[in-house]
Amino acid sequence: MFRSSWQFAFGPESTLTPGQVRPFTLLPDFLDEPLLHTMDTEGDQHILANVCTHRGNLLVRKPGPCRNLVCPYHGRRFALDGLCQTQPGLGEVTGFPGQEDHLKRPVPAQFEAFHFVRLGEGPSFDSWFRPIQEKVSFLPLHTLSHDATCSHTYKVKANWALYGELPEGLHIPFVHPALREALDLTAYPLDIQGQTVLQTGLARENEPAFDLPHGHPDAGNRIYAWYFWLFPNLMLNFYPWGISLNLVQPTGPERTRVQFLTYRFTGQTGGPDSHALHDTELEDESVVETVQSGVRSSFYQPGRMVPGWEEGVVHFHHLLTQHLKLNTSNTSP
Ligand code: FES
Ligand SMILES: [Fe+2]
Repeated sequence: MFRSSWQFAFGPESTLTPGQVRPFTLLPDFLDEPLLHTMDTEGDQHILANVCTHRGNLLVRKPGPCRNLVCPYHGRRFALDGLCQTQPGLGEVTGFPGQEDHLKRPVPAQFEAFHFVRLGEGPSFDSWFRPIQEKVSFLPLHTLSHDATCSHTYKVKANWALYGELPEGLHIPFVHPALREALDLTAYPLDIQGQTVLQTGLARENEPAFDLPHGHPDAGNRIYAWYFWLFPNLMLNFYPWGISLNLVQPTGPERTRVQFLTYRFTGQTGGPDSHALHDTELEDESVVETVQSGVRSSFYQPGRMVPGWEEGVVHFHHLLTQHLKLNTSNTSP
């Protein structure tokens, strides 16, 4: 399921200059997929498998400037766009290099300076991301820059799918005291499209809200935040001051890594400070960890969902079930 879905690769903080390369691992401790980000001398960026097509050695271990990619095992050489050029001992061989000798690559996609990859067959990026583009295209997205002080990595003692059940507003008054004061919870619009669930947080009187352009679908409302959840493991939240991403990464049956990344629009110093974001995250994690203990109980049976509030969670369960059925039918004899 994770191979056939879109995964966040890196954001604007990882931009290279021509002739630079940077190895990275997609979903460490789970898929452990070794990838390589390069920028060739023309300034074109590439995301490649960081795996030599000869006998599988990892090509690049450290980021830095690089003219060609030369495998440290037997010297097979590749250009920064992944094309195989030569290898000692094979130079005279007919048909070398052929298609199978070039570096493999995941399917890439880009939203402004945010890069995504898909390792296997799966939905198109446009279909996955369209609900977001429709809402946020008026924002100065090209000015987003990484806010390292408001970005953290968390370890959660729970299955990743329990974290994936968070896109509902029902828990806010009970779990998030500060958010409860900022949001007008008399309404909490929920919009489900394809593999995306959108929750819209409405701002209370004195809270900051988006300055929506004329003709925007939400014009006339005071929007505090759009909380997008994209199947299977990305949360992408838009605020008037910037965005935050939650990358929900399984690391074991009851272990999850949550990478919380914050980006601000140029000139936007408002919005919550690092403590406020950190507190909200810890409040969510605390409840997810206690749910992990609860669902393990001999007495737990899934309970009835609340109409108007928990359709996003039900949708998540449906999508998971679809994938599990698909995988079961693919592997059956
Ligand atoms: S594994 Fe790379 S050249 Fe042999
Ligand atoms: Fe929450």
